[in-house]
This record gives sequence, C-alpha cells and structure tokens, in this order.
Amino acid sequence: MSLQLLTDFPLLPHNTFGFDVRARHAMRIDSVDAAAALATDARIANLPQLVLGGGSNIVLTRDFDGVALIVGILGKRVIDETGDAWLVEAGAGENWHDFVAWTLARGMPGLENLALIPGTVGAAPIQNIGAYGLEMGERFERLQAVELATGARVEFDRADCAFGYRDSFFKRAGRGRFMITSVVFRLPKAWTPRADYADVARALEGASKRDAQAIFDAVVAVRRAKLPDWTVLGNAGSFFKNPVVSAQAFEALKAREPGVVSYPQADGQAKLAAGWLIDRCGWKGRGIGGAAVHDRQALVLVNRGGATGAQVLELANAIKRDVLARFDVELEMEPVAL
Ligand code: EPU
Repeated sequence: MSLQLLTDFPLLPHNTFGFDVRARHAMRIDSVDAAAALATDARIANLPQLVLGGGSNIVLTRDFDGVALIVGILGKRVIDETGDAWLVEAGAGENWHDFVAWTLARGMPGLENLALIPGTVGAAPIQNIGAYGLEMGERFERLQAVELATGARVEFDRADCAFGYRDSFFKRAGRGRFMITSVVFRLPKAWTPRADYADVARALEGASKRDAQAIFDAVVAVRRAKLPDWTVLGNAGSFFKNPVVSAQAFEALKAREPGVVSYPQADGQAKLAAGWLIDRCGWKGRGIGGAAVHDRQALVLVNRGGATGAQVLELANAIKRDVLARFDVELEMEPVAL
C-alpha cells in the first residue's frame, strides 16, 4: 500500500484555534490497513509523526517539521444488541457530534450530555471528554488502535485506557505511540436522564418532555450560549482543567474567598471552577495580542484573529501566575502544546 505523501501541508483547517502553521508533510489515513502500513513506509521512517483528529485539543506553536497524519477512518454501526445494551462502533475519523446525533436518531440514548463537543470519535478517549455530568469513559467499551512504530493492531479495554478526569493512558505512557482507529461504546437500554447540572436543568424547565432528545437540545442550547463556536472564534474548549485541591486547602481558600465555586469529590477533596478563579483575577475579555480570554466563559482562551500559539501560551502563563499568586492554586493546561 502506498499512500500519497503531501508536502508543505497547511494545518490551518486542521486545528480549531485557527493557527496558521504548516507541516513539512502530511498523509491522510482512511483505513486500518493504511495506519498499519505507516510503520514500514521508508519515506517517513525518520520523521516525527503527529496524529491529528479534529485538532480541537492542541496548541500548535510553530510549523511541524514532520508528518501530520490526518485520521479519516469512517463508519458507524451497531455491532451487537443484548437484552440490556447496544454496542455501537464508530471509525476514529467520524465527527463526534454527528455520531452522538446518529445514536439518538436510531433510538439509542446515552451520549446526549456530550452533544456538540468538537472533535472526532478517535480523539474522544484520549482526554476522556466530559460535560454536564457525564464522561465518555462511562459509555466506553473498547477501542482498536495501531501502534505506529510496529504497525501492530492493538485492542484496549476500559482498564487499559486508565481513564481519569480529562485524562487517559494516551495522554501519559501511551502519548504519541498509537493511532486510535475505531471505538466501541456500550449504551445501556435502562436509560436514566442526567440532568442535575444547573445550566442543563434550567434549560430543561420549559421542555414538555425530559427524554434524551430534550437533554440533547438543552446541552446544545447551553453550549451555544456559553462556548464560542470555533468556526467563528478559534478556541480549544476549556483551556485549563478544574483543579482539585485537598479539603484543608479548600477550607483555607473558602475562608478568604467565600464565593469560590467548587464541586465536592468523593474522597473529600474539592474540584474548583477554574473559570471562576480566572474571572475573579479580572482576566475575562482581556488578552495579549490576538489571544484573549473569552468574554462569556473565562476558562476558554480564544484567537480573536491573527494570534499565534506562542501568544496563547504566553497568555496562559500570565493567567497561571495570577491564579497562583492570588489563590495559591496551580492550573494545569487541558490541551496539548506542540
Ligand atoms: N464561572 C465564572 N466565570 C466564568 C466561568 C465560570 O464565575 O467566566 C463559574 C460559574 O459560576 C459556573 C462555574 O464556574 O457555575 C463552572 O462553569 P461552567 O458550568 O461553565 O463549567 P466549567 O467548570 O467552566 C466544565 C468543563 C467543560 C464542560 C462544562 C460542563 C472542564 C475543564 N471543563 O467547565 O468542558 O463543558 O464543565 O460540564 O472540566 C472542555 O473540557 O473543553 C469543556 C468545555
């Protein structure tokens, strides 16, 4: 199998921040066989490789002197149905939101809280996408991947993936080593709504039903109201994770800042709303050059036009310094910088 090797490839359409950078080479990977063939392709043997899905969780700070692998493996199908669940498989290159809508349209609820998250199915497990009371890991069954160095086809179950909050094996020990080619989800037939999240509950108030479609619609409405559309204003969703602090640190913080927004964790720790911390430092709507803090949600950094990845990182560092100085809390970036 010989794939076309593209040269001086523009990455602008392949990253949601809209940074105007280029890759020395690129290849479009449309099948598992194509992914497996990369390991023995002499043309790219000594080049750094970058697997790109929707480019919605990456900060490209410079041109990439290697080969960008654009994953376009498609296909959506129900692979099994038992008395209590559907097993649904999607190719890594499928658009995440379209996949969520497809499952709902076929009467298989379970992913509706994750509507409108940018990116592809193959990228979803890498940072274990989550929103409005649900994490992808809760609906995950297994995935198929190709090890880039050897071309070996490898299956990962949920334990192998080591999912955490916006975290997985693929962000840690597995980083850069695999191309995810397809993902299987388990959608239980015993469906219960997840509608506790305040914004979603509010959006549902006027709805005549509380079925999966109503939750889907509510989530879409909340996201549209708060989060910028990357096709209009470049961004990568939440730029920082919500930091988790000890019960003791939380009590000390609360004494000084009674308004602090937090979510209690099962182990007694507290997850703080980073957006609130950043907002409180006065950063909302402010920026450096074309890089700015979104004016409706301080957790999202945006490209107001012409920003570079380096400017976004400079802004992120300035925010981190302020949050550390004021609250003694260290923020951790959610997207990967390159
Ligand atoms: N807040 C402010 N000012 C702001 C932003 C937020 O005061 O500018 C406060 C609000 O009081 C709000 C609280 O912070 O009650 C939390 O804000 P929000 O409900 O918007 O959620 P979040 O913590 O900012 C997280 C996820 C989002 C996810 C939403 C809904 C992370 C890092 N972010 O945001 O995920 O959509 O909850 O579940 O966990 C993403 O990861 O890219 C992402 C968008």
